[in-house]
Amino acid sequence: MRSPPAAAELSPMAVHGVAQTRAAVLGLGAYAPPKVLTNDDLARLVDTSDEWITTRTGIKRRHVAGPDQATSDLAVIAAQQALDAAAVRAQDLDLILVGTATPDMLFPATACLLQERLGAPQAGAFDLLAACSSFVYGLISAGQMLTSGLARTALVVGAETLSRLVDWKDRTTCVLIGDGAGAAVLGASDTGRGIYAGMVGADGSAGNVLKVPAGGSRMPMTREAIDRKLHRGYMDGQAVFKLAVRTVPGLIRETVARAGWTMEHVDLIVPHQANLRIIEAMASQLHLPMEKFVVNIQEYGNTSAASVPLALFEAVQGGRIHDDDRIVLAAFGGGFTYAACALVWGK
Ligand code: ACO
Repeated sequence: MRSPPAAAELSPMAVHGVAQTRAAVLGLGAYAPPKVLTNDDLARLVDTSDEWITTRTGIKRRHVAGPDQATSDLAVIAAQQALDAAAVRAQDLDLILVGTATPDMLFPATACLLQERLGAPQAGAFDLLAACSSFVYGLISAGQMLTSGLARTALVVGAETLSRLVDWKDRTTCVLIGDGAGAAVLGASDTGRGIYAGMVGADGSAGNVLKVPAGGSRMPMTREAIDRKLHRGYMDGQAVFKLAVRTVPGLIRETVARAGWTMEHVDLIVPHQANLRIIEAMASQLHLPMEKFVVNIQEYGNTSAASVPLALFEAVQGGRIHDDDRIVLAAFGGGFTYAACALVWGK
C-alpha cells in the first residue's frame, strides 16, 4: 500500500494547516444481469466468430437484461449496495444523479424512479446524458455540488440497458454491447482523500458517429422509423475509435496535471471499456504498462455509462485499489463526449 501523499501535494490550503474539503467515494455498488451471451452465442445470431470478436475487441461475454429488467431495476440493486457499503441511509441522501442513455422512459427521470424505490424523499433527482461518459460527468458534477455545500451526500449511478437499442441483426454493433449498473455514494471529506481534479468536454461536431436517430422530437417513434430501424443504435466504429485515441490520452494527462500530480504519481487508470485495442493504444500513448489500466471488457462488453463504475467496483473488490492510491477515471462516448476525474482513494 502507498503512503498518503505529502500535505504540500494535497492542496495549498493543507500547507497552512486548513484541510480542504473534497468529495470522496464512501461506498460502491455494481450489478450485471445474470443472463450471459458468449461470443459463440452471437455467432449463432449473426455472421461473426469468437476469434473475430476477441481479437478486434477483447470481449468474450456480455450480460444482458431479461425482458422484465429495465434500467432502474439494475440501478436500484447497485445503488442499494453502494449505500450499504457507505453505511449511508437512503433517507439521508441529498442528491441522486443517474447517468444513462437508456432511461426507463423519457420522463420521469430514472433518478426519480430510484428516489422512490430507495426511499430517499430528501434527495433532488435528475438524469444526466453524456452517453458512455455519463458516470464520470456525474461524479464530477455531484462532487462540485458537495464541495459548494449544495448537497452533503450524493448517489451517482451509471446504468444502461443498451441491449434494448441494439439491432441484434447488425454484427458491427451487437457484439460490442452489454447491460449493467454501477453506483457510488459521495460525501464531503477533509482527510486529504477524494476528488482532486475533473475535466469534462464534448465535440458536438462529431455527434453523428454514435446516435439513435428516432424516438426524440426530431423524429418521433413512427412505424416508418421503426421499419427503417432508426430506433436502433447507429455507430461509425472506426470514427469512434480514432476520436477516443486522439482525445483521451491528452485528457488524462491534463487532468493529472490539474490535480497537481505527474503521471508517475498515478497508481491506476480506470478507463471506459469500449475496446481492448483502444485501451492498449491509450497505454502506449501515455507510455504506461497495461498493468496500470483496469480491464474487464472481456466479461461485460461495452456497458456505456455503467462501464467505469463496474470496472472501478471490480478493481476495489479485487484488491487493486487501496486507501490513498491515486486513481484516474476516464471515459468517452456519443456526443462526442469525454471526461476524466483524478482522485485519491478512500473516505
Ligand atoms: N464479426 C465479423 N466481422 C465483422 C464484424 C463482426 N462482428 N463486425 C464487422 N466485421 C467486418 C466488417 O464488415 C469488415 O469487413 P470488410 O473488410 O469485408 O468490409 C471487417 O470486419 C473490418 O471491419 P472494421 O470496422 O474495419 O473493424 P475494426 O477493426 O475497425 O473494428 C470495431 C470494428 C470493433 C467496431 C472498432 O472500430 C471499435 O471498437 N470502435 C469503437 C466502438 C465504440 O467504442 N463504440 C462505442 C459504443 S458502442 C454502442 O453504443 C453501440
